[in-house]
Amino acid sequence: MSEHVKLIYDGKTYELPVITGSEGEKGIDISTLRQTTGLITLDPGFANTGSCVSTITFMNGEKGILRYRGIPVEQLAEHSIFTETTYLLINGVLPTRKQLNHFSILLNDNSLIHEDMQSFFQSFPRASHPMGILSSMVTALRSFYPELIITEEEINLMVTRLLSKVRTLAAMSYKISRGHKVVYPRPDLSYCANFLNMMFDNPVKPYQIDEDQVRALNVFWILHADHEQNCSTSTVRMVGSGRVNLYAAISAGIAALWGRLHGGANQGVIEMLTKIKEDGGNVAKAVERAKDKNDPFRLMGFGHRVYKTYDPRAKIMKKTCDGVLEKLKISDPLLDIAKQLEAVALKDNYFIDHNLYPNIDFYSGIVLRALGIPTSMFTVMFAIGRLPGWIAQWKESVDDPNWRLSRPRQIYAGPPPIDYVPIEDRI
Ligand code: ACO
Repeated sequence: MSEHVKLIYDGKTYELPVITGSEGEKGIDISTLRQTTGLITLDPGFANTGSCVSTITFMNGEKGILRYRGIPVEQLAEHSIFTETTYLLINGVLPTRKQLNHFSILLNDNSLIHEDMQSFFQSFPRASHPMGILSSMVTALRSFYPELIITEEEINLMVTRLLSKVRTLAAMSYKISRGHKVVYPRPDLSYCANFLNMMFDNPVKPYQIDEDQVRALNVFWILHADHEQNCSTSTVRMVGSGRVNLYAAISAGIAALWGRLHGGANQGVIEMLTKIKEDGGNVAKAVERAKDKNDPFRLMGFGHRVYKTYDPRAKIMKKTCDGVLEKLKISDPLLDIAKQLEAVALKDNYFIDHNLYPNIDFYSGIVLRALGIPTSMFTVMFAIGRLPGWIAQWKESVDDPNWRLSRPRQIYAGPPPIDYVPIEDRI
């Protein structure tokens, strides 16, 4: 029997259907609310609002669960590679060996960038943030490559292009920002190894592929691959709902991810840890500042809108971090500070009462540092990892028969109607 909730308003009773998800999650379907009652809902930050029904990612913030297409992220981080997880997110099932090989070939075939695009990089001021460059370059891709959305095959080609070219663009932007020669993708290298090679190979010092580093990058990108309706993904869906081309929707997602409270937090964590180190390593002082309501300082890499327990990705990232530093024989003082900070914060009543635990960004920056990635590129690394999720969510919205232009309402609290005053009469 279908469930309903009763809404009593202005002497009338309205029945609103309750929708139940495959994991027992429940939501009230209010799609007829305004039409039948004249009311809208008000939910700043959308913390209580479901914007879609999705089959892609399940997360439970209270229990610390994250699954892509039903598969726990812990299993994917242990056994999968990034391209396989990408295929899973976009196509809904794990690929066969043949399908994965075919996907890898397509990624390789589409990895080059139109040579004319290189000149764009030269026009950005030297100090430009790589996220701004990436967002602009992804929009520019639309001018070089047509939008293909008629057949399934065309959509697959456009999606593969984007996945492969964004990675090349990111590495190119780094090389050009250093004044170095661009390194082209190599057909004999995997997606992740190719990226590292494009970033770090140079004519006088050939890059040696290290399988431990390649594995760490796979894990990093798998953990970032999707996170249901977060700020940037909702942006991709919302911008996409205006029937904009995929490149523009992804570019909007990149811009949304840039923010310090979202994807920019990984850069924020390293900057915070560096400041604590320079300030003598006093982690207790940082925790006190984070609790002080008169101080805007927050512990970067702590807290999450959905997770009210330890972020499951943070646990894997911490393990990866320990593993990669040990294998590469790197000792990073920022890791020691991060561990001390975590230990102090987790015992502190403020953090306990507010359910503030480390999120994925807390340890991810240290992993990226170990791979040689500069801090300014951290959020770009996140963006490459989140690309499969954005694409899968965009694809799901395009295929949804209930897909409508996103257009939230508001409660107006401005002045009542007043007459225009000619400029000479204004005081
Ligand atoms: N340090 C100190 N206090 C915090 C922190 C923090 N990192 N995060 C939240 N709080 C406190 C707030 O001050 C507030 O306290 P109050 O209720 O006493 O006023 C309470 O916890 C709730 O905070 P909100 O900002 O309302 O929580 P929200 O769910 O909107 O924010 C967010 C989540 C933005 C992630 C927040 O925890 C934060 O700013 N964290 C630091 C930035 C960060 O690490 N972002 C990455 C998130 S993961 C990702 O996007 C990949």
